[in-house]
Amino acid sequence: MKTSKIKLNCNVLRDGHQSLAATRMKTLQMLPICKQLDDWGFHALETWGGATIDSGLRFLNEFPFDRLDALKKACPKTPHMMLLRGQNIVQYAHFPDDVVTAFVKTSAKHGMNIFRIFDALNDPLNMKCAIKAAKAAGAEAHGTICYTTSPVHTVEKFIELGVELERMGCDAVVLKDMAGLIAPIEAFKIVKGLKDSIKIPVWIHTHDTAGLGATTYMYAIDAGVDAIDLSIAPFANGTSQPDTVRMLALLNGHQRCPEVSEAQKDSLKEIRSHLEAVYAELSDFTSHKNEVIDTDTLEYQVPGGMLSNFRTQLKEQKMEDKFDEVFREIPVVREALGWIPLVTPTSQIVGMQAFLNVKFGRWEQISPQTADIALGYYGRTPAPVDPDLQKLAAKQANKDPITCRPVEAPDVKHLHMEDLRKELEAKKFPADDEHCVLYAMFPAQLEQHLKGPKLSPKSDEAAAEKAATAESHMVSCSRQKRYGLTIDGKRIEVGVEELV
Ligand code: CO
Repeated sequence: MKTSKIKLNCNVLRDGHQSLAATRMKTLQMLPICKQLDDWGFHALETWGGATIDSGLRFLNEFPFDRLDALKKACPKTPHMMLLRGQNIVQYAHFPDDVVTAFVKTSAKHGMNIFRIFDALNDPLNMKCAIKAAKAAGAEAHGTICYTTSPVHTVEKFIELGVELERMGCDAVVLKDMAGLIAPIEAFKIVKGLKDSIKIPVWIHTHDTAGLGATTYMYAIDAGVDAIDLSIAPFANGTSQPDTVRMLALLNGHQRCPEVSEAQKDSLKEIRSHLEAVYAELSDFTSHKNEVIDTDTLEYQVPGGMLSNFRTQLKEQKMEDKFDEVFREIPVVREALGWIPLVTPTSQIVGMQAFLNVKFGRWEQISPQTADIALGYYGRTPAPVDPDLQKLAAKQANKDPITCRPVEAPDVKHLHMEDLRKELEAKKFPADDEHCVLYAMFPAQLEQHLKGPKLSPKSDEAAAEKAATAESHMVSCSRQKRYGLTIDGKRIEVGVEELV
């Protein structure tokens, strides 16, 4: 049995506030605790990626690479880690290889050390380019397995994927349980199986949404996992990662428990007291509901964020009585789409389709995104797509199914680095790689950021909210009937023709 001390990562500067405060923590709110975080002895600090880049541009008036520079300077000793959605980078669409490669290379140049690379469908082909780019940039590529439950997701299948990721050159394999669904024994089996089958380290990431997270870590540690992800209260527990102090208390007396000095304990207290103040400042974006253990997520087998947002949105649509019906429809949609995992962006797409199926009748209205998944435009699904749904989707979208890597699909036009550069130059904006890769993913947000007056953070938020209100007004005034839902913290809108 493994006896080496368990490595602890700290995710408070990314997943912590993404899970509990809508990704609204500003760089200025992070800097005062950076030295303590850097000195503490964490194995890695998750500081960037996920939704932080979008949120920085959209809501905080921050240029994302400036945040990375600032955090790197403030935490120079501990490796920095980021979450990357494979070919989607940190967006939902597929980007061409040269843009993915430039993003990874540029991020590494700004100090990113570990790229945690996943694909919403667990399709290794969508992770290949990012893995190669991270290696080429001298960074670590961590191949990531999205955990989900379905009749086709067995322990053996997850282990097979880990073996494949090692074969593809990854430096570690991460079992990522974004919804906090993984039960301790299941985590034990998968980690043990991975440790027996591959030589590279195995890490685990979970959330405490249903109260399983910390216990799951204990079992994963007994199975030999090399590192776990933690956060720091109040940006911990609930829909976030387990709190570091709490995890250390659970590990007390365990042979793999790291030694923690009095100075480290005091440091955690200092960090926490600063974070309490930040949490209070972000009270517009926090919710008590996210802090408490909610076992509903186990019943519905969907991410917690998806549940809470769905409740709100169904209310807005005056469909709150349809909650159970919509949630019973989710496995139906998932099965028809080859049992895809529920993680951004598939959680939004599946949620929206379940909603449409209930509102209009099953498959009467297929969202363009559902059609794309059914036709292979998001990658290879874990199980085959229902052939009838695929036929319907092909007819509606007027295109054929594909089996190649989505980014290589014929007839799909992509903006490459040179196109992006030309566009930025034509608009008289900076056109370095940093601006090009952000422009590829967030053209409107980047433009707004570059053109916008440099407002104080408070008034900027007000301006952003005003813009968002105007946008939703435009949507509701357009001729086509549009429905919007926010799932997992992300807005998704579909247009449907009214069948009058
Ligand atoms: Co997470």
